[in-house]
Amino acid sequence: MPPPPLSMREHVREQRFNTVWTQQLNTVFADVAPYYDRANTVASLGLWNWFLESFMSTIDLRPGQRALDVCAGTNAIGIALLKREPSLEVHAIDRSAEMQEVGRQRAGALGFRIHSVIGDVHALPFPDNHFDVVTLQYASRHLRVKDVFGEIFRVLKPGGHFYHCDMLRPGNPLVEKLYYAYLRMCLGFTGFMFASGAAALNCKKYFIDALEMFYSADELSQVLRELGYCDVAAKTVFAGMIGHHRAAKPLAR
Ligand SMILES: C[S@@+](CC[C@H](N)C(=O)[O-])C[C@H]1O[C@@H](n2cnc3c(N)ncnc32)[C@H](O)[C@@H]1O
Repeated sequence: MPPPPLSMREHVREQRFNTVWTQQLNTVFADVAPYYDRANTVASLGLWNWFLESFMSTIDLRPGQRALDVCAGTNAIGIALLKREPSLEVHAIDRSAEMQEVGRQRAGALGFRIHSVIGDVHALPFPDNHFDVVTLQYASRHLRVKDVFGEIFRVLKPGGHFYHCDMLRPGNPLVEKLYYAYLRMCLGFTGFMFASGAAALNCKKYFIDALEMFYSADELSQVLRELGYCDVAAKTVFAGMIGHHRAAKPLAR
């Protein structure tokens, strides 16, 4: 079923998914935290690190910059940022203490320090104009996108950049059919392989529904422009299944 028009999308997404977002997802991520990275490696047929490198290649960094990874999960992005530029000051925010604990251990094992906040990203606990770089990967389908992108705009310094990566709605009906069928199979297989708990198993349908209701790459670019971002650029990989967006906060006049 095609999603509602762009002007109504956020409203419909919130009405349909708000209960899952606010009452179920945290239990899901507490359950999957210990095997999250391994499950994604399996589900992506071993391409998980390639996907990460592909997103990282879109990110420009300068020594000493302050970066924030929103919905940081197990700190994949924070660690990749520090591997590239160890002089960065990296912050992470996520609502799941369990995902961040795995991330803290991963970063610590490599000798990296990532400043972690456990909290809801719809209200970022940071001052205005604070970060040079903000990243957000594989989480927007679970968020009120306009509210969170607006918060990211607020905490970015003028001239700072927001980098976004997520699974998107490919737009081509045949690709979408195959994509959703593959994801359905994967969720069943990884749920069995990693002995997922009831909360994660119950959300299998939600994960596909949320993707079907999400944005295409062009639609997401439009959302970013409407929120005031400039120099918005999008790149898709895998026939539009994954999208990378880059957007800047305009310099103050
Ligand atoms: C699929 S994981 C992605 C993690 C990481 N960004 C990555 O690329 O592997 C989604 C993450 O978003 C977090 N999340 C979902 N809704 C959130 C919210 N409202 N506030 C903060 N974190 C949230 C979850 O706890 C989870 O760690």
